[in-house]
Amino acid sequence: MAAQPESGDRREFLRVCVVGGALAVGAGLGAWSLSRPAAAPGAEVAPVPLAPMLRAKALPLDEPVALDVALTRREGWRVRSTRRQVLVVRTGDETFKAFSPVCPHKGCGVQPNAKEKKFVCPCHDAQFDIAGELKSGPAPRGLDPLELTVAEHEGAPWLFVTWQEFVAGIPERTGRQA
Ligand code: FES
Repeated sequence: MAAQPESGDRREFLRVCVVGGALAVGAGLGAWSLSRPAAAPGAEVAPVPLAPMLRAKALPLDEPVALDVALTRREGWRVRSTRRQVLVVRTGDETFKAFSPVCPHKGCGVQPNAKEKKFVCPCHDAQFDIAGELKSGPAPRGLDPLELTVAEHEGAPWLFVTWQEFVAGIPERTGRQA
C-alpha cells in the first residue's frame, strides 16, 4: 500500500513533540549547571609534579635554577594545560626552596642568575637572593614562596609543587585567583 501523506494534525503533533523535547532538555541542562558548584576561575589542580627526586638531588647546591612545570587550569568547563617555570634552589641533600617566577613588583618573569647566585627581574631590575629576599629594586616584597612536597609519581619519588599566584605591587603577600 502506498504511503499516505501525513495529515496536518499529525505534523503539528510531531512539531510540538520536537520543540517541547528540546525545551525540556535545555531546561534540564540549565538546572543541572545551576546546581553544579562553580569552579573557581583559574583554580589550580595542584600539587603538580615538578621533577624526579633523582634529578632534583643532582641540582647544584645553593644555585638558583628554573624548572618547567605543566599546570592544569580549570576555566569554566574547560581544563587547560600550560607550562610555567618555577624558581628552585637546592639548599641541602634533599631540601629545596621554590618561588613563583612572577615578580611581586608588576608581574614580569623573574630569572635565575646562576653565576651571581641570585634571581633577577629583567623589567625593572629587582634583585633577590637565593632565599627569595629582596636585595634591591622596586619590588615591594621578596619572591613568593611555593609549597614543595615529595610523593610517588611514575614509580619513583618526585618533587611536587603547589602553584599559587599572589597580588603584585603590595608589601603584603596575598594569594589571588589566577
Ligand atoms: S616587574 Fe619586576 S622589577 Fe618591575
